[in-house]
Amino acid sequence: MANLFPKWTNWLPLKILVILFVLGNAVTAGVWYYFTPKYTRVGYEPIQPVPFPHDIHVSQLGMDCRYCHSFVEVAAHSNVPNTQTCMNCHSQVQKDNPKLQAVRESWKSELPVSWVQIHKTPDYVYFNHSAHVNRGVSCFSCHDQVNHMAVVYHAKPHSMSWCLDCHRAPENNLRPREQVTNLDWKPSDENAQTFTAKYGKPPGEEQKDFSGEVKLTQLEIGNTLKHNWNVQPPDINCFACHR
Ligand code: HEC
Ligand code: HEC
Ligand code: HEC
Ligand code: HEC
Ligand code: HEC
Repeated sequence: MANLFPKWTNWLPLKILVILFVLGNAVTAGVWYYFTPKYTRVGYEPIQPVPFPHDIHVSQLGMDCRYCHSFVEVAAHSNVPNTQTCMNCHSQVQKDNPKLQAVRESWKSELPVSWVQIHKTPDYVYFNHSAHVNRGVSCFSCHDQVNHMAVVYHAKPHSMSWCLDCHRAPENNLRPREQVTNLDWKPSDENAQTFTAKYGKPPGEEQKDFSGEVKLTQLEIGNTLKHNWNVQPPDINCFACHR
């Protein structure tokens, strides 16, 4: 009987092993490259021309994000404030603080302060702030507790799988719109009676009594808003984000 397999196939197992080994390394290298903090940018905290403290301005002085990031609700892009915004106060307050030197220079020269941009999606990705903020997604979900940061850093990966994780289960992140810029908000802060009167009861819990001392969970709040507002983020349509 003729040989079913030619002679070179004797080497096949070894060749397969070598190929697997090379591929395996490539996969490891890929995972290493894509998932390490450097690529996902988590922790990126560039040195800014002014060490602008969000914690002092937001948590201590009680300023709202929209005082400075004034386009965040109305535009795709969230602006960084101009020098005039700082000078509304700092032409009087802390006039001689050396930390504000770059702001004063910018005021004189009329050239903007050269803030280093921290969060940046690649050009082939379409992202819109207002589409999120107006649907009850807080800055907190994507930038973490900026209100307690002395200096802003990149706190979340902003990778494609990160976007999709939320798009597939937005109920984990939705909150009433008026709480979007309150980064310390907790589901238990919500008054269950007022909330259900406004948005209805959580799907599947129509029989439950929400008067009295009942506390709502994130899932109850998220599912109610998702249902009430018919929230449907794109997750399989590639062209929603890659236009
Ligand atoms: C008094 C003005 C002011 C207020 C109020 C303020 N910010 Fe900022 N924010 C700035 C300035 C100036 C920068 C740029 C310098 C920096 O990155 O620290 C900035 C940067 C940021 C960045 C990083 C931008 C980038 O380059 O990627 C985020 C995110 C941010 N702010 C979120 C918030 C959130 C959330 C709030 C409300 C809780 C808020 N800010 C309130 C002035 C402000
Ligand atoms: C609504 C008024 C107001 C606005 C607008 C404002 N600040 Fe301030 N800022 C203050 C006050 C008040 C303090 C002093 C806080 C303290 O001493 O506790 C301060 C302190 C600071 C400090 C000093 C922090 C330190 O550790 O010494 C810096 C830097 C600063 N602000 C930068 C900015 C920049 C940059 C902008 C514009 C993006 C800005 N501020 C806008 C009110 C303001
Ligand atoms: C769903 C996620 C998400 C939410 C919610 C969100 N952001 Fe962002 N933010 C991003 C992404 C992604 C970028 C990078 C965008 C880009 O490259 O155009 C960004 C960038 C920024 C920048 C930098 C813009 C620049 O060009 O320097 C600021 C400032 C900012 N966000 C503030 C806010 C504030 C304030 C809120 C809440 C009112 C908020 N963001 C809510 C995801 C989010
Ligand atoms: C924390 C949750 C969350 C994260 C993270 C998130 N999204 Fe969304 N996204 C939503 C919600 C909620 C909507 C609103 C869906 C609706 O209106 O029905 C939405 C809508 C969108 C839309 C459709 C609206 C429009 O502007 O056309 C796009 C595109 C989009 N997101 C892109 C992104 C990208 C890109 C990222 C990552 C950089 C991202 N999203 C991260 C929750 C999120
Ligand atoms: C919710 C928004 C969103 C949707 C939907 C989406 N993408 Fe992406 N995609 C992103 C973001 C954000 C990045 C950039 C990731 C980064 O910077 O790390 C990206 C990056 C990519 C990349 C570059 C890969 C890389 O790691 O550099 C490819 C390829 C891609 N997407 C293909 C697709 C395909 C195919 C689909 C449809 C099945 C799809 N995307 C759907 C948001 C999305």
